Amino acid sequence: MSVLVTGGAGYIGSHTCVSLLNRGMDVIILDDFSNSNQKVVQRIEHMTKKEVKYYSIDLKDKDAVHSVFADNEIEAVIHFAGYKAVGESVVNPLSYYDNNLISTIYLLQVMKQFNVKKLVFSSSATVYGRPKQVPIAENAHLSATNPYGRTKLIIEDMLRDIYASDNDWAITCLRYFNPIGAHPSGNLGEDPRGIPNNLMPYITQVAIGKRPVLQIFGDGFSTKDGTGVRDYIHVMDLAEGHICALEQLKKVTGFNFYNLGTGKGYSVLEIVQTFERVNHVNIPYIITDARMGDIPISYADPTAAATGLGWKAQRGLEEMCIDAWRWQKNNPTGYSDKKNPHLMQSGDFSFS
Ligand code: NAD
Ligand code: UD1
Repeated sequence: MSVLVTGGAGYIGSHTCVSLLNRGMDVIILDDFSNSNQKVVQRIEHMTKKEVKYYSIDLKDKDAVHSVFADNEIEAVIHFAGYKAVGESVVNPLSYYDNNLISTIYLLQVMKQFNVKKLVFSSSATVYGRPKQVPIAENAHLSATNPYGRTKLIIEDMLRDIYASDNDWAITCLRYFNPIGAHPSGNLGEDPRGIPNNLMPYITQVAIGKRPVLQIFGDGFSTKDGTGVRDYIHVMDLAEGHICALEQLKKVTGFNFYNLGTGKGYSVLEIVQTFERVNHVNIPYIITDARMGDIPISYADPTAAATGLGWKAQRGLEEMCIDAWRWQKNNPTGYSDKKNPHLMQSGDFSFS
């Protein structure tokens, strides 16, 4: 099967490309590298010993997208490309509506034109807004608390409408919970630009000495220890979820949506303590005020993905922490060659 992977150089896309290639699928990456590095493609090729065709294209350039479809026999699309930072979306909503929605509309128009009607879309647990109960099942109430989340809801609605208008489409929305970890080789991982918004990259940057201290956003939630609880999922489990979704799309048409989570919730303190224990590093932290808009607790009911896709997360929290740290240790400045001026000397922090 020949799969176009939009955003294939990004964090989740790159790991998924490795899984697709190792499954014998042909991969074509389309990415504008606005939040990724071209070196990712070389790493994927090196790891899989396969050549990967890639296009440095903005999805909002419809003619360019058209030419990618004209040049290749694409059978299915996995659509990762988009902006994903919640805070940034609140400050600059138009850029989120512009990039995430326009890109997707153009992609869908071109797919339709070329009669490519199999699509896996990266949705998010953010579509559940402030969940009324946990675990969260797919039929829970949907709402958006920020422009980023609203783009995911709008795209899900758009896809539902497309399937309703033409039942030849096979569309699966995957609602990811909290992806963390890295490829076990240490060659691929999460490389956020600037200050990380999410917990795990912040922890690994504290561990490597790039940042002095982790701020834990609040310990007054009604959770097991007062800190926020989330469903962390290993990025390789997530990657495999996309393979299962594609396998299903080969066989049946329809519009489906599934949670990809483990079904287990861990607190921020549990993440910090596990990371310290399995990696023998110290993570200094301070407790600060809660981050605006943060919810106390979120974890998935993953039953539908098990029954509908035959997919279940296999990797536990320890593996997530070990792999995240291996990636950061092997790549102290991420994919960049530049030595980071903010990196402390090795004596300033401890790791095994
Ligand atoms: P990422 O930023 O690492 O990857 C996204 C990729 O898309 C980047 O390589 C970026 O350069 C590219 N891109 C952005 N706009 C583009 C455009 N207009 N044209 C072409 N390429 C473009 O993000 P990720 O963490 O890998 O997330 C992938 C998808 O999963 C996103 O849609 C995100 O919203 C969704 N998601 C991510 C998380 C998470 O925590 N990482 C959680 C839930 C959902
Ligand atoms: C974030 C996004 C959400 C997205 C999800 C998965 C926000 C507000 N929400 O949610 O839309 O679907 O990622 O990618 O960005 N924490 C700290 N200190 C830090 C960073 C985080 O204590 O420096 C805490 C948070 O308060 C939270 C937990 O760690 O309790 C996880 O945070 P994060 O990784 O940002 O994910 P989410 O808040 O679940």
